Amino acid sequence: SKGNHRHYMLKEIYEQPIVVAQTLRAYLQRMDDQVTLPIPDFDLSAIKRVTIVACGTSFYAGMVAKYWFEQFARVPVDLDVASEFRYRAPVMEEGGLMIVISQSGETADTLAALRHARSEGQKIAAVVNVPTSSMAREADLLLPTHAGPEIGVASTKAFTCQLAVLAALAANLAKAKGKLSDAEEKAIVKHLAEAPAALNGALAYDEAIQAMAGVVAAARDVLYLGRGTDYPLALEGALKLKEISYIHAEGYAAGEMKHGPIALIDDAVPVIVIAPSGPLFEKTVSNMQEVQARGGKVILISDYDGIEAAGEGTVATITMPKVHPLIAPLVYAVPVQLLAYHVAVAKGTDVDQPRNLAKSVTVE
Ligand code: F6R
Repeated sequence: SKGNHRHYMLKEIYEQPIVVAQTLRAYLQRMDDQVTLPIPDFDLSAIKRVTIVACGTSFYAGMVAKYWFEQFARVPVDLDVASEFRYRAPVMEEGGLMIVISQSGETADTLAALRHARSEGQKIAAVVNVPTSSMAREADLLLPTHAGPEIGVASTKAFTCQLAVLAALAANLAKAKGKLSDAEEKAIVKHLAEAPAALNGALAYDEAIQAMAGVVAAARDVLYLGRGTDYPLALEGALKLKEISYIHAEGYAAGEMKHGPIALIDDAVPVIVIAPSGPLFEKTVSNMQEVQARGGKVILISDYDGIEAAGEGTVATITMPKVHPLIAPLVYAVPVQLLAYHVAVAKGTDVDQPRNLAKSVTVE
């Protein structure tokens, strides 16, 4: 049931601190500061390359994870949407791990990609939320998300749980390949364990986000910008807004603005900038200022320090807790979900059952 929430989507957004904690419990040994897998003796040490395949929101989780696999494990990562992957001629050499990511575990294109990779001799890991699903059954390494049933068509809690599992998997791969010191492992465990409280901190901004939803609800087009792991978050923000509010939205890598999309900017286009303070902050802010100089209405999502440094001239700001960059993608998922939700409610759309969409896409 929806409990005391108006929609399943809102209920599921609010469940995130609990289900992420539940998911992390299966991958972290907090007693001895270790990352582990549900199948502890699964050997990852010979993995030379990772191929990540998924669709929609699950694909964006994979896109975030690419940064982690490269950074922690130093393995090359190939990443594609399933509907493209299966119709090109991907090169899958020995020692490859294919990671499929799927809430339902039944998405037709993703399942076909899994089967193709298997026939090419790849090991298969499946990050899925439905443990009885086809992908769960066909994988060598089942990596469950413990999000519980997701009813709202727009994926929310499954996404943050996927991120939690993928961060733990990246750390496990790094460890198996001898690329992770004990101190680094301990730090990763510590940062991941901070995610549930940080997600609660992000949820505390719900009313403020609701109050600014009108700016976005009145728009015809909306842009989302981010760099690094905030770039997939920008894509996810745009997808959430499109699918439930029917407003045209696009996500861009902030540095790509000047290569075309900046031509769209005028005072009718809200631009949501996702920029936690950190190494890429200054770069994103300078892209944001280019938007402001052309009259764009910026909504800045950052932490207190980021908003102090760059909040001037924005039409609104959303303050997130200050978190380690590893968990920022989980935390910053919350405001983009809530913004899409409140805009959709303001527009009176069917939030849980948006038009033309199905929860599980079992045809290609
Ligand atoms: C967006 C959304 C979809 C799914 C996609 C993949 O909110 O829910 O984009 O993420 O259809 O579905 P799964 O994860 O079940 O493979």
